[in-house]
Amino acid sequence: MIKISRLAKHYGSIQAVAGLDLEIDRGEIFGLLGPNGAGKTTTFRMLTMLTKPSGGSASINGYEVTGDLLKVKKVIGVVPQHMNLDQELTAWENLELHGRLHKMPGERRRQRIDELLAYVELAGRAHDLANKFSGGMKRRLMIARALMHSPGVLFLDEPTAGLDPQARRNIWDLIRRMNSEGMTVLLTTHYIEEAEALCHRVGIMDHGRLIALGTPTELKKRVGEVVVEALNHGGNEYRFFADREQALRYAGSLADNVLIREANLEDVFVELTGRKVGD
Ligand SMILES: Nc1ncnc2c1ncn2[C@@H]1O[C@H](COP(=O)(O)OP(=O)(O)OP(=O)(O)O)[C@@H](O)[C@H]1O
Ligand SMILES: [Mg+2]
Repeated sequence: MIKISRLAKHYGSIQAVAGLDLEIDRGEIFGLLGPNGAGKTTTFRMLTMLTKPSGGSASINGYEVTGDLLKVKKVIGVVPQHMNLDQELTAWENLELHGRLHKMPGERRRQRIDELLAYVELAGRAHDLANKFSGGMKRRLMIARALMHSPGVLFLDEPTAGLDPQARRNIWDLIRRMNSEGMTVLLTTHYIEEAEALCHRVGIMDHGRLIALGTPTELKKRVGEVVVEALNHGGNEYRFFADREQALRYAGSLADNVLIREANLEDVFVELTGRKVGD
């Protein structure tokens, strides 16, 4: 479905993506997770043909992203990190424009617009200007626009950045619904809980490289599923254990205040990179 081989991009001396190897299956929700500057957007932009790789290759449904651009464009939908709706157009007109750019016939276009506005729960706002929408509504409109030409693979770059918890959950529900209807989804995020809640598999990126790959459960097993956090004055110390029994035994040997809890993806990240997400 998506095959990425030694994909690289440098900007001058900055190695934004440093040789990425990855395969994503049809029907997956795959999340690229990583801190600011890890190379997520650059990877996304190469896969969606917004920027040319400096090296390596990537194909989507067998089409090379550096080869037949029109074929790739047909099979992918793209929701970029930054809001790029036409603010002076209505919701309906934004979708209409996209349909025209994709040369969809008039009747089909109008039908699809109505269908999609209902799908993202904006039917009642069809004729309002996009600049009147809240952040969550804009994001849903961008998703509807990306779906206009019925792609089989959807790319979302930071789909819930800046949204409140309710709007974020609405987007998660939308992504799950699309996926259950057959859509392959590749998203980037630096929200750990988003990757954990949504993604079948996660790739953790740091400094342009993939430093871990697997299901959230596999990744947590890798560091140890139970954490003992010792609360010191100088900063917390973390130790990972395969099960609760071992964790309890260790905690009992400590004089400090301790917290025993289940590991999460953030622990995996910290353990693998020695840094916090966002550092
Ligand atoms: N157009 C560009 N010109 C020069 N350097 C760039 C450009 N785009 C990205 N970079 C650099 O490449 C690196 C990776 O950036 P990228 O935007 O891919 O990170 P990201 O993982 O998406 O981060 P964020 O979480 O902040 O969105 C950074 O060091 C960044 O400064
Ligand atoms: Mg980014």
